[in-house]
Amino acid sequence: MTAYSDILVDTPHNGVQRIRLNRPQAHNALRTALLGELATALAAAAEDKRVRAVVITGSEKVFAAGADVKEMAALDAVGLWKDQRPQHWQTIRSFSKPLIASVNGYCLGGGMELAMHADMIIAGEDARFGQPEINLGIIPGAGGTQRLVRSVGKALAMKLVLSGEFINAREALAAGLVAEVTQPELTLKRATALAETIASKSPIALRLAKEAILASYETPLSQGLELERKAFLFLATTQDRQEGIDAFLEKRPPQFTGQ
Ligand code: CAA
Repeated sequence: MTAYSDILVDTPHNGVQRIRLNRPQAHNALRTALLGELATALAAAAEDKRVRAVVITGSEKVFAAGADVKEMAALDAVGLWKDQRPQHWQTIRSFSKPLIASVNGYCLGGGMELAMHADMIIAGEDARFGQPEINLGIIPGAGGTQRLVRSVGKALAMKLVLSGEFINAREALAAGLVAEVTQPELTLKRATALAETIASKSPIALRLAKEAILASYETPLSQGLELERKAFLFLATTQDRQEGIDAFLEKRPPQFTGQ
């Protein structure tokens, strides 16, 4: 059993594992140790057959206020270059199961970049999103300039990154950054319920659907369509597809096994 200090990892329930960022004294600032624990927990969740979807959350007041500025201040360029952060981000990025971010309060800098690593964001009305790195004389360094523009388009990405201003949950919803906005006290409940719904689907279909959607960032349309076609054909070989169709025809809920 891995012991964590900066995150809390729940026992999987109904196919869903919840991971809570837990540095209340620093507004859940993502120090390298926290990112490392998150990467370790996700690598374990990837291997754990009980886990079919993961919800990452923060506290009721803050998802995460970004990289740990105090830690960052102690690192020069060489220190940053040698830092383990890029490897941890890579592990988070390559997590193949559905990942939902449940966001209340501040979701800033590296915290917003972490939320954008998730497959979808469920936000409370009280959520505030921003890339305030420009106030520190730096820019986002964990994909913010790239993911944000793909998510919300150039105009809003430029506004957020160049001004450091925040947007609220409704603005984030209108811009396509978040999938759903809830009352603040219901955010985690809704994110968990959505994760449970997703967890009840075929793990193989989920994995291929996630892969295909993420590939759309990297590929021309013709190549993306080809990838989708091949994934679609591959799924025709699975027991889960047979089960899904049989269950529909027999008017019963399907039992997907991931075979
Ligand atoms: N790093 C380290 N400590 C942080 C922190 C951060 N990102 N954000 C907050 N804290 C600490 C504060 O220093 C403070 O600690 P002390 O009590 O020991 O002074 C504690 O958390 C509470 O913070 P505040 O008193 O500032 O709380 P507030 O409610 O008045 O303001 C806030 C909240 C607007 C989020 C403000 O804390 C803030 O602006 N934080 C920094 C946000 C930021 O600049 N994020 C980007 C970081 S750079 C980055 O993310 C780059 C990257 O990934 C590559």
